[in-house]
Amino acid sequence: MKIIRAKDYTEMSRKAANIISAQVIMKPNCVLGLATGGTPLGTYAQLIEWYRKGDLDFAEVTTVNLDEYRGISKENPQSYWYFMHQNFFNHINIQPAHVHLPDGANLDAQAVCEGYDSVIHELGGIDLQLLGLGRDGHIGFNEPNVAFELGTHCVELTESTIEANKRFFESKEDVPREAYTMGIKSIMQARKILMVVNGADKADIVKKAFFGPVTPEVPASILQMHPDFILVLDQEAAAQI
Ligand code: GLP
Repeated sequence: MKIIRAKDYTEMSRKAANIISAQVIMKPNCVLGLATGGTPLGTYAQLIEWYRKGDLDFAEVTTVNLDEYRGISKENPQSYWYFMHQNFFNHINIQPAHVHLPDGANLDAQAVCEGYDSVIHELGGIDLQLLGLGRDGHIGFNEPNVAFELGTHCVELTESTIEANKRFFESKEDVPREAYTMGIKSIMQARKILMVVNGADKADIVKKAFFGPVTPEVPASILQMHPDFILVLDQEAAAQI
């Protein structure tokens, strides 16, 4: 595990974007695993800026996103498909056919999950997986006590995650109760993992996840075992380590 400390959110985002840029420059046809949530937004904004300057080219890049709510279509502004297009894909030269997210509109969980694992497999696996960190230690939507050996699967969201994500919806009742997510196994198979974490409210979970025991109670703790895991933190999130 490599820890990179940044003074604030902007610096954290720039450092993370630097690592992703290096990946894209070294392997223009790489497979990037991407994440939603508030934390990576600055990273995406920085990548867009470098793309506009002509320093980055996404023409050959393929992406696979971590997760998607179950039961909402991609046209729904609350979908992760929409979020990713709004905040990243619409602003770079990625080919639409190279963008992958689990199909939230398809309620056949088995078909969606098996199909998604096949897509990742056929792409030859993920070169670099970007992650945020949930307040309860979740990654993607792998909530506490998830089995580490799962591939893509359908999950019921915990109260804490519904509470945390309601800020993106009109009301708490509008937050979907289920989601499709890559499993811990899928994430751990990525060749490189990059996590971004900021803010004082994540300081406790950062300490638990990366300086405590590896346990399914804190899904992110498994990342301690990954051979190429980079954690980029701002000062507030690093306050307890
Ligand atoms: C959601 C996403 C996760 C993300 C987490 C943290 O639950 N499924 O992938 O890491 O939120 O979000 P934020 O970065 O907004 O704290």
